[in-house]
Amino acid sequence: MAKEKTMFYCSSCGASSVKWIGKCPSCGQWNSFVEELAPVSVPAWSADRDRKSRSAIRIDEIQEKDDVRIRIPGKELNRVLGGGLVPGSLILLGGEPGIGKSTLMLQTALRLKNKVLYVSGEESEVQIHMRAKRIGISNDNCYILPETETSAIFHVIRDLQPQLVIIDSIQTLYSKVLDSAPGSLLQVRECAGEMLRFSKESGVPVVLIGHITKDGAIAGPKILEHMVDVVLQFEGDRHHTYRLLRTLKNRFGSASELGIYEMISEGLREVSNPSEILITERDQQLPGICVTAALEGMRPLLVETQALVSSAVYGTPQRNANGYDLRRLNMLLAVLEKRCGFKLAMFDVFVNIAGGLHLTDPGIDLSIACSILSSYHNITLPNKLVCIGEIGLSGEIRAVNRMEQRLTEAEKLGFTEVIVSQHGLKGMRKPKIKITGADRIDEVFSMLFG
Ligand code: TYD
Ligand code: MG
Repeated sequence: MAKEKTMFYCSSCGASSVKWIGKCPSCGQWNSFVEELAPVSVPAWSADRDRKSRSAIRIDEIQEKDDVRIRIPGKELNRVLGGGLVPGSLILLGGEPGIGKSTLMLQTALRLKNKVLYVSGEESEVQIHMRAKRIGISNDNCYILPETETSAIFHVIRDLQPQLVIIDSIQTLYSKVLDSAPGSLLQVRECAGEMLRFSKESGVPVVLIGHITKDGAIAGPKILEHMVDVVLQFEGDRHHTYRLLRTLKNRFGSASELGIYEMISEGLREVSNPSEILITERDQQLPGICVTAALEGMRPLLVETQALVSSAVYGTPQRNANGYDLRRLNMLLAVLEKRCGFKLAMFDVFVNIAGGLHLTDPGIDLSIACSILSSYHNITLPNKLVCIGEIGLSGEIRAVNRMEQRLTEAEKLGFTEVIVSQHGLKGMRKPKIKITGADRIDEVFSMLFG
């Protein structure tokens, strides 16, 4: 028997080569080439591309229908999608195993009034039925199909005429036109291509659930992300019940939206006011805790930053940050040493963002610094205080964006005082909350700790 022909493909951009190469000449990634069976025939979606000849239309003759988006019951998913499902769109939902992707999509399918086909290559119909029972919604417009071969799926779609198709997951699908195994680079690309063509031609939106590799990228070629209209990422800490649904790309809306869910025993519950759960209710203020208004996507969230400063037992002091960038913490400590006389060489510093959130907003710097100083001096901060500001290398406090929204959120939750940068307050609507402007970190230090 003749040896099967294989090729090498870049798992990052999909470039091909007859021999293995260390660095992809097309995208520059190192060690990204994997060996795959070479396709025997031309992929179906490129072979019959010229089947239907279409003519070009002048842009101002194109008619747009009003309100064509399919609204999903519930606010969070709608917001993340930019106001509902656009007909003919291809959506990729990525996330780590066990985070709740299948639960989220099944729950959505059960809540919709439209006819939905849920194709599962991972679970049997009985398992899906058990999950639906757990979620506790029954819907006679929701159809389940345990199938992994694409032409069989299209056959069912033709008979059923669903208004939404959900594929769980793209890595389990395979197309007969290729010989390679399901989940391989070529199969993922081919199956996604077939789904793309189906959704564009029929106008039926398709949601693809995708797995995530260890380093957090959606498994399969980067091309997958280029192909689809919307990329959503479902993330969260497994030890916490909160889940964040983020838009990474959206051709029909803003790409910085965020939806927040809580995993409970009956599926995923929408969290409409996240700040309330992220701030711990307590009678007594504790040292090392400060509250800030961070921006997650477009949403202001009030979160607690916590710090613990204790004397170092070993020669090298420890630095640990949970939910905050460690390098940024080191920079902050250097600024605090230089400006506020904080002798960091003698102390271990641990920083944590409550609720298992991971924040990259530089506006929380001031709050982290205040937590560290509060723990260092063992002095509690005022109960109803919020600190917002980015800290620069010379200890200056810089203005952050969307200040008005942050202040409104703090006001809404009953906070009475806020420390912010002196700059960037001009031209702002006068809020009820008491605003203290500061220029440098040492000013804040003497204001709070004397
Ligand atoms: P799942 O949707 O299967 O994750 P994924 O498809 O992303 O791999 O979610 C599985 C987890 O969710 C599992 O650990 C159990 C939990 N879960 C609940 O806590 N409540 C529920 O009602 C359901 C259906 C799942
Ligand atoms: Mg799943």
